[in-house]
Amino acid sequence: MTNPSAEAPFFQTMPYALYTDPQVYREEKQKIFSRSWNFVGMSSLVAKPGDFYTCEVAGQPIIVTHGQDGVIRAFYNVCAHRATKVEKEEFGSKKILMCSYHGWTYKLDGGLNKTPNFKDCSELCTGAFDLKPIRLEIESSFMFVNLDDQAPALLDTYRDFFEDIRVFSFMGNLKKIEVKKRVIGCNWKVFIDNFLECDHCPIAHPGFVSTLDMKKYHIINGDYCNIQGTGLKAGRTDLQTAEVQEGRFYWLWPNTMVTVYPGPGNISTIQMLPIDHETTMGVYTFYLEGDEPTAEQKQLMAFADQVRQEDVELVELAQVGYRSSAFDRGICSPTEHGVYHFAQLVQSALGPR
Ligand code: FES
Ligand SMILES: [Fe+2]
Repeated sequence: MTNPSAEAPFFQTMPYALYTDPQVYREEKQKIFSRSWNFVGMSSLVAKPGDFYTCEVAGQPIIVTHGQDGVIRAFYNVCAHRATKVEKEEFGSKKILMCSYHGWTYKLDGGLNKTPNFKDCSELCTGAFDLKPIRLEIESSFMFVNLDDQAPALLDTYRDFFEDIRVFSFMGNLKKIEVKKRVIGCNWKVFIDNFLECDHCPIAHPGFVSTLDMKKYHIINGDYCNIQGTGLKAGRTDLQTAEVQEGRFYWLWPNTMVTVYPGPGNISTIQMLPIDHETTMGVYTFYLEGDEPTAEQKQLMAFADQVRQEDVELVELAQVGYRSSAFDRGICSPTEHGVYHFAQLVQSALGPR
């Protein structure tokens, strides 16, 4: 990363080629997503023994299970017989997982159970043909997996975040209320850049800046996270008795964001899952207290959705410019230090080019 100098008196962004080159995305899968903690959901997604959840991390099919022994684990969702994806549903609850190809079955602790096309499975049931485990760690109800067995522990990686989020005592009581997925026409990093600064907020987010005290807005870089926030704007008497009296916005390297808005106890998680070098699936999940959203909770979700829509338009416009030949890179303002920090992490992970 180039620091300010006589030739470049500003902090520079990462080169725009990193947002448009398919080879960079292939490298990111190996050097970033396969070595980092990837958020897979709150532990309430697999609350009871038998519950499971499937997803993809760095292009790998993953299953998270809550075993009959009460332990939550993660595995590659791949059959040891001839590689078929074992569980096809996204969510569910089962006593046993069955591969739909030749009917091999697995217990929720990953152990091989039955192999119908091998009459005597005793030689197979030695562990070698179990579902292949993946590291999973849970802190404050947040579940993460890491494909790298050598990576530092989850808590050590995001210590600042886990210490900060503790102020919200409702965190363990929240249930998933709503998931929205959006295909966004930009490289995944464009959305992260957008999240890491609020210079654009007065221009793009009128509802946001009329709710929060922007004079006290702060943005703090942690080692592998970023914490932003501020209190309620003076005069918002409508929110003065709400459970949450502030907005806090967290980013966790590489592609997870967590937001807490003023209002009833709430968090939402945002995952920016790259589809290719110029397309990203945004997964927005709202977690609230209770089973059915109240009028106050619905209002909060509509507010957050409006802010998100405003950002989607911006990041798609930015991708148009990254693709053009007008500039090779841009510059960061003093309050875009989060963008600069992210650029350093990306470039350090990718290595010299
Ligand atoms: S591939 Fe799964 S049972 Fe054959
Ligand atoms: Fe924004």
